[in-house]
Amino acid sequence: MAEAILQVKDLVKHFPVRQGVLFKRTIGHVKAVDGVSFDLLKGETLGVVGESGCGKSTLAQVLMRLEPPTGGTALFEGRDMFKMRGAELRKLRRDIQIVLQDPYTSLNPRMTVGDIIGEPFEIHTDVAPKGSREGKVRELLDVVGLNPEHINRYPHQFSGGQRQRIGIARALALRPKVIICDEPVSALDVSIQAQVMNLLGELQRDLGLSYVFIAHDLSVVRHLSDRVAVMYLGKVVEIGTEDEIYGQPSHPYTQALLSAVPVPDPQLRGRREIIRLTGDVPSPINPPSGCRFRTRCWKAQDICAEQEPELVTRVAGHPSACHFAEAQVVVP
Ligand SMILES: Nc1ncnc2c1ncn2[C@@H]1O[C@H](COP(=O)(O)OP(=O)(O)OP(=O)(O)O)[C@@H](O)[C@H]1O
Ligand SMILES: [Mg+2]
Repeated sequence: MAEAILQVKDLVKHFPVRQGVLFKRTIGHVKAVDGVSFDLLKGETLGVVGESGCGKSTLAQVLMRLEPPTGGTALFEGRDMFKMRGAELRKLRRDIQIVLQDPYTSLNPRMTVGDIIGEPFEIHTDVAPKGSREGKVRELLDVVGLNPEHINRYPHQFSGGQRQRIGIARALALRPKVIICDEPVSALDVSIQAQVMNLLGELQRDLGLSYVFIAHDLSVVRHLSDRVAVMYLGKVVEIGTEDEIYGQPSHPYTQALLSAVPVPDPQLRGRREIIRLTGDVPSPINPPSGCRFRTRCWKAQDICAEQEPELVTRVAGHPSACHFAEAQVVVP
């Protein structure tokens, strides 16, 4: 088995909710990420899936060290990444990169693509000495399937899919080991989505990258993911291999998400039960006691309000945080 490049343990990120004159009084906390643990293995893709507001982007921001954690640890290549300073932190900032959802807003409209992709070299001057930068940017354009001759064009002269390729080229500039993809294809048309996903897959194979791939729904991450973590209100409720999550989901929330994935084969379509979740996602400021999913769960019993289910393996060979975890055999 491959070794872990990133080991996240009990990671917590709470945001204070402030009120009053000058917002000086803290009246509560948004529990955006509330005790998340997982390993990312070298060369693998871990899909992270869950509804809007469950803490996916916050997790990404903390792992990028753009936000300090409230608690927990993360080891990058065995070393505590939240304690890194100086040269070690600069190295970390090369090794972990992010690709964001919206190529329209994440690229500076007044910079040429050459300057956008080459910008990381300005900070990390040792990666590419000044004279070699243009050549490196042209190479990167080629790697992501763009025409190197377009180096002096501006973002608005590219299509949505091409802009996402620019974002990917920029993320690759410093030769990272891990890329966190925060919904990189969610804003793109379905046909373009497939092209960008294929590119990410090829890059992973060629460069040995590890991905944390964030998405709203299970269908997007399936193709690329080796393993998938399902999040609900700041917690991972189920984690397993692609086969386990899609073939034998054991948490009711995963089963509900999966039942919403369209089935392409009309012959099989009628055979899958659609589970409609009732009610809204509760507020992450005051999550329900015990199991956070219980207010929307058809299996909920008294124990679910009293005891928080741990994320442990009960059935189907993979961890699931449900007192009544039960493997469902899914019709493909
Ligand atoms: N800087 C912040 N200050 C206060 N609350 C925040 C901040 N950033 C995020 N939150 C809150 O934390 C929770 C998780 O947000 P986050 O953006 O991580 O969710 P998400 O899973 O990425 O959602 P989406 O699928 O919509 O992108 C939300 O309730 C959000 O309002
Ligand atoms: Mg998000």
